[in-house]
Amino acid sequence: HSSPDTLSFKHANEAHHFIAKQLSAELQSPRLGIICGSGLGGLAETVLSNPRHEIPYSAIPHFPLSSVHGHAGKLVIGVLRPDESPVVFMVGRIHYYEGHSFQSLTFPVRVLKLLGVDTLLITNAAGGLNPRYSIGDFVLLKDHLNLAGLAGNHPLRGPNLEDFGVRFPALSDAYDLHLRRRAHEVWRQVDRHSDSRQLHEGTYAFVGGPSYETRAECRMLRNLGADLVGMSTVPEIIVARHCGIRVLALSLVTNNAVLEPGLRGDDTSIKDLGREDLTRAIATGKANHEEVLKSGEEAAKDLQSLLNALMVIIKTE
Ligand code: ADE
Repeated sequence: HSSPDTLSFKHANEAHHFIAKQLSAELQSPRLGIICGSGLGGLAETVLSNPRHEIPYSAIPHFPLSSVHGHAGKLVIGVLRPDESPVVFMVGRIHYYEGHSFQSLTFPVRVLKLLGVDTLLITNAAGGLNPRYSIGDFVLLKDHLNLAGLAGNHPLRGPNLEDFGVRFPALSDAYDLHLRRRAHEVWRQVDRHSDSRQLHEGTYAFVGGPSYETRAECRMLRNLGADLVGMSTVPEIIVARHCGIRVLALSLVTNNAVLEPGLRGDDTSIKDLGREDLTRAIATGKANHEEVLKSGEEAAKDLQSLLNALMVIIKTE
């Protein structure tokens, strides 16, 4: 007999118990979870130094391990202010392009659920497809395009784990309206380093990576209605919604995806370009990982202010 590759409720329970038994009484049952995206792990440094507990993913049973540069993998459980209820941070997220299955990379979300998490804030770095977006802007996700999922490669494929949720979950309400409203309110109030930075709302297209998109792929995604493109977040959101966790997802625009076909339009062949044109055509808008990490560092402080204020509000509601 062969059976589908399944991480069951039992596995999630083992991971949950492993974590819970290490936590002191004041760090038990965090209700708020935060998944920190590329270059945004500094968010976890907003917790107080005591009480605080860190657990490397490598120590937790069945947890997938992150390998990509800039994504150290650990859980940080702590409090934002003295005597407050705890929050749990995932610092270092697991990506599909590292070779994990969707099931394995979303396993931590189910463990967070068992720990007590009912609200999840997810951050990521993404490429901007909407021409109104600038590098360094923030985008609240209001919807997504799960291209892999539509084609059959989906995190909930396989036997449904009834302990977590239903076989056919709706995703039309995946992006919590109330939390998005709160985020806009907070955005108007927090001090920001850059006055020009904007908070948008947009639709995120999930792609497998690890290569960045070609120009034609960027145009396709834009034509399909995407404002952003990225290699994370959507699998976690689907699994979080399946088990009834409220979700707010926030992207940092780290580069602008290139929508123009080439320097002179679709019908330009490189045989018609001079050497300088050619060099420019190649360099224009070429995405690279260093660029993604760098704009992450610069915007992280504003993101931190926004999320901090938001966390405080969510926790008092
Ligand atoms: N992450 C950051 N920028 C990206 C891009 N252009 N495409 C996919 N993922 C990204």
